[in-house]
Amino acid sequence: MLGPVLLAAARSDSIRRLVSAAPVTRPMVDRFVAGEQLDHCLRAVRSLADRGMEVTIDHLGEDITDRSEAVRNRDAYLALTDALASSGLAEHAEMSVKLSAFGQALPGGHDVAYDNVLPVVEAATAAGTTVTLDMEDHTTVDSTLAILADLRRRFPGTGAVLQSYLFRTEEDCHTLAGEGSRVRLVKGAYNEPAHVAHQDKHEVDKAYVRCLKILMAGKGYPMVGSHDPRMVAIAQELAGRYGRKQDEYEFQMLYGIRTGEHERLVAEGHRMRVYIPYGTDWYGYFMRRLAERPANMAFFLRSLVTR
Ligand code: FDA
Repeated sequence: MLGPVLLAAARSDSIRRLVSAAPVTRPMVDRFVAGEQLDHCLRAVRSLADRGMEVTIDHLGEDITDRSEAVRNRDAYLALTDALASSGLAEHAEMSVKLSAFGQALPGGHDVAYDNVLPVVEAATAAGTTVTLDMEDHTTVDSTLAILADLRRRFPGTGAVLQSYLFRTEEDCHTLAGEGSRVRLVKGAYNEPAHVAHQDKHEVDKAYVRCLKILMAGKGYPMVGSHDPRMVAIAQELAGRYGRKQDEYEFQMLYGIRTGEHERLVAEGHRMRVYIPYGTDWYGYFMRRLAERPANMAFFLRSLVTR
């Protein structure tokens, strides 16, 4: 029951102010977010690269309300791309973007988001890296996949995220299982209504396995975005069944979550990519991480009352 409440709170400005001001919040945020500044992020990238991991970097931001913020977010990604290129880290790092940070929800937002993300994808390609479009709530999926299709015509390495909780996703997996396609499959982190998404966790997991089968059997590059040991084991089994070598798919996990598993998969010779968020706009991301695991929320509430 707590999950949907937290996910609703993730979009509330008044709760944002309360949570952000609480002194106990910071140490918990630090578990999931690499820092507020670009330097903090680069330090985290270097440390993970030294341990044999790849990364995908998210400059935190979402649900913006005016065009100037979209331009600021675009510029932050351009600065990040420059920094990756000049520090020699581009070979280990790609970038994840949320199109709502690029203006997707504004009036005329589809075009605003495309116009702002295009220079980032161009710069990433010039720097020798790629961009993956994160997936947000179900109302954005058509627009995000249409932007993906436009970007892929010029920049075929651009990736996307599909969420197994949505009923439509098996069909989207078929569409995106072709040659050159890069798809990160996740379970889904938003508060979705019953007419578009499975509500039962067991059904979400079963759908994840069905989607994984489609992607592993296809010709694209599956990116297995899950911390669930059963999904990891099933991905390994399916990769073997469809004759995929270890460099023909990868695992992805979030910064700070099940880090022992990151190390274990690297030690087994797998490609492991860690999703690193950084920046000041951490509230929505942080609340989704609390919502995923009641134990996180219990810990957070205990810290509030025991101070
Ligand atoms: P599940 O929720 O079943 O968790 C399995 C186990 O992982 C738990 O038992 C626990 O041990 C650990 N775990 C999971 N979440 C945890 C947490 N917050 N804190 C502590 N432990 C935790 N979603 C989305 O809608 N759009 C997107 O673009 C992305 N992008 C994305 C990128 C990457 C690299 C990952 C790994 C995930 C996403 N997600 C996402 C989030 C995703 O949809 C999902 O909410 C989380 O990954 C949790 O689901 P799991 O598959 O890990 O399984």
